[in-house]
Amino acid sequence: MPSYTVTVATGSQWFAGTDDYIYLSLLGSAGCSEKHLLDKPFYNDFERGAVDSYDVTVDEELGEIQLVKIEKRKYWLHDDWYLKYITLKTPHGDYIEFPCYRWLTGDGEVVLRDGRAKLARDDQIHILKQHRRKELETRQKQYRWMEWNPGFPLSIDAKCHKDLPRDIQFDSEKGVDFVLNYSKAMENLFINRFMHMFQSSWNDFADFEKIFVKISNTISERVMNHWQEDLMFGYQFLNGCNPVLIRRCTELPEKLPVTTEMVECSLERQLSLEQEVQQGNIFIVDFELLDGIDANKTDPCTLQFLATPICLLYKNLANKIVPIAIQLSQIPGDENPIFLPSDAKYDWLLAKIWVRSSDFHVHQTITHLLRTHLVSEVFGIAMYRQLPAVHPIFKLLVAHVRFTIAINTKAREQLICECGLFDKANATGGGGHVQMVQRAMKDLTYTSLLFLGMYPEEHFIEKPVKEAMARFRKNLEAIVSVIAERNKKKQLPYYYLSPDRIPNSVAI
Ligand SMILES: [Fe+2]
Repeated sequence: MPSYTVTVATGSQWFAGTDDYIYLSLLGSAGCSEKHLLDKPFYNDFERGAVDSYDVTVDEELGEIQLVKIEKRKYWLHDDWYLKYITLKTPHGDYIEFPCYRWLTGDGEVVLRDGRAKLARDDQIHILKQHRRKELETRQKQYRWMEWNPGFPLSIDAKCHKDLPRDIQFDSEKGVDFVLNYSKAMENLFINRFMHMFQSSWNDFADFEKIFVKISNTISERVMNHWQEDLMFGYQFLNGCNPVLIRRCTELPEKLPVTTEMVECSLERQLSLEQEVQQGNIFIVDFELLDGIDANKTDPCTLQFLATPICLLYKNLANKIVPIAIQLSQIPGDENPIFLPSDAKYDWLLAKIWVRSSDFHVHQTITHLLRTHLVSEVFGIAMYRQLPAVHPIFKLLVAHVRFTIAINTKAREQLICECGLFDKANATGGGGHVQMVQRAMKDLTYTSLLFLGMYPEEHFIEKPVKEAMARFRKNLEAIVSVIAERNKKKQLPYYYLSPDRIPNSVAI
């Protein structure tokens, strides 16, 4: 009688193991096996992280194995199980891998195909076509669209994290409590006793120094010593978390009536401002998006304000970016002067602080929330609804969108909802952040959708694909060493584009 060896790998995350009964059936081109209980006597099967092997003898020849069916049945209380993969050694000595990487909950079952990537047109056999269709039908029932707010990208239809399909929930929900993390961050910053500073105005620039009382490293020290300087402002703009707003200025906009005379002392090439523009040395950041957005009014004791600055940046002879002119709102006029480095020290400093403040709001709400989180969720839901696990694009994408929907659901629960953290902490809270997303959605494009990183799951089993992945990883390693080498010479090393420092972002 034909005999198979079945190897079953259980996930290593918390609670991945199970004490439930696990049954296996094999569906081949020539027939189907009986249901086999996978159980080794005097052995605790399917423990967290375990890789267990079982001999399964079948009554007749099954032909080529098309599907492996796994069923979980209650032993005592339902015990969820995370199955990583199954490997089958056939009577001919061939090995076939069946990637799963899914939870089985309740009286759950899963039918797996081997890990070769297949398009719909590759499936000629009826049971494979049917398997593909059924998988999508099930997923479309689980992963439904919802419009959280009018004009927002569509999101998952779930009120809270625990309503999500188990496969896209966090392994440990605790680590992602924004409210908890916020308090913890405050504690870590040792600023509980300075909390009142966030509720009211700062009295002195010296207050700012107290924030860093517990954080001391070369970077914080350097920032502390130089944050008021134009060079540091330009450096932080270019190397900070939101350089995407900086545009090369090809023509000075009418709404910013700045002249050569005004910026003369900043220009280093003995050229007029127009000539500097033509040579590509002038850059512009326009926070027009914030124009007309309501400032946070949720706390009547704390008045909040928003500016809509336009900031002109200059690439100087040392190839550094420095600010040379700032107008704090969009319509020029006597009430809206253009601030310059030649102005009184604190006027110029305050203008720069308003630019940083506006940059924070646009970064958090548009660059970060909308263009990374919310947009990725759209791709995630579409992937689950439209692509079966055997589809090559599913195999490529699934690792990239892992936890994307979960973190967004958490954000809608605690961060951007009414009375959420945005309302408490941001000047755009209380609805301004919603208006910003709605406005930005009108000219959203397919840019900024690049992901990088590493995941251990291997959904592909073909040799050429594995080789391509190995090559790509090697390329990433090369980038890591180039960055490491470059950093050796830097007084302020920066790693944020280094692939090894980008967690949860690259699968292959
Ligand atoms: Fe994020």
